[in-house]
Amino acid sequence: MVAARRAILIGHPLGHSLSPAFQNAAFRAAGIDAHYALADVPPQDLAATVASLRAANMLGANVTVPYKQDVIPFLDSLSDDARALGAVNTIVNRAGRLHGLNTDVPGFAADLREHGIDVREKCVVMLGAGGAARGVAAALVGMGVTRLVIANRTVARAAAIAAHYPGIAEPTDPGGEGIRERLAGAAALVNATSVGLHGGDMPIDGDALALLPQSATVYDLIYRPTGLLRAAASRGLRAVDGLGMLIHQGALAWEAWTGQPAPLDAMREAAHAARSAR
Ligand code: ATR
Repeated sequence: MVAARRAILIGHPLGHSLSPAFQNAAFRAAGIDAHYALADVPPQDLAATVASLRAANMLGANVTVPYKQDVIPFLDSLSDDARALGAVNTIVNRAGRLHGLNTDVPGFAADLREHGIDVREKCVVMLGAGGAARGVAAALVGMGVTRLVIANRTVARAAAIAAHYPGIAEPTDPGGEGIRERLAGAAALVNATSVGLHGGDMPIDGDALALLPQSATVYDLIYRPTGLLRAAASRGLRAVDGLGMLIHQGALAWEAWTGQPAPLDAMREAAHAARSAR
């Protein structure tokens, strides 16, 4: 008997995740007999779990916190994006050889395009300088921003990312004066910090939103309405949460596993239903 095909999400700890809902919806919609499951993997089991992806029935995996860098030594090859970022969020089993990709970068870009958010030759202010922010920075620079302001509590971390994009990126203090002028000329403000994940905390002073042009978009990678998004909407600014990015990164992973175009409508519908059910 041929074992059922599988893909897994590797992370630790894995709380509730929307990915199984929309990945399994995609398999169903495409008529593929496969299942996506959560794999909460303690650090001592990471090597064995990644090695298990070489089995013939394994399509591959998504990788999330805290393993996006840690899986790299266990892989056979990396995409250019994954190598440049030093972070893998998708592993594809190519006949027993493991290839690492980063679909967070094109997933974010795809969601901006879908929302009609045009950042080409514009200034964007990004909050945060962790792993998520690295992907967002790469996507924004790839989409042609002329200025990327990286505002982070620990300014040295912002400076470390900015150093990759000389002439485009500049680090700043989110509570300082310099950011005010940048907000006034920004096409978008992107929250890539974890502030707002739980409760209504804001990653930036709410009054600072008044500095943004009325045409600006406030985008939060967190995929539910956050304090930041509510404050933006109440000021009449366009507010976009991170669910679309989550779906797009998942759809690109699914395409890499199956070699087929992702059934995006089915994935969206399942992701929205799963979020509402939480
Ligand atoms: P991820 O991989 O999800 O990006 P991370 O690498 O831990 O997670 O990064 C978390 C980001 O949220 C960082 O930019 C962090 O700021 P510091 O670099 O100064 O730590 C930011 N962050 C987390 N908690 C914060 C808080 N209470 N106030 C301000 N920024 C915070």
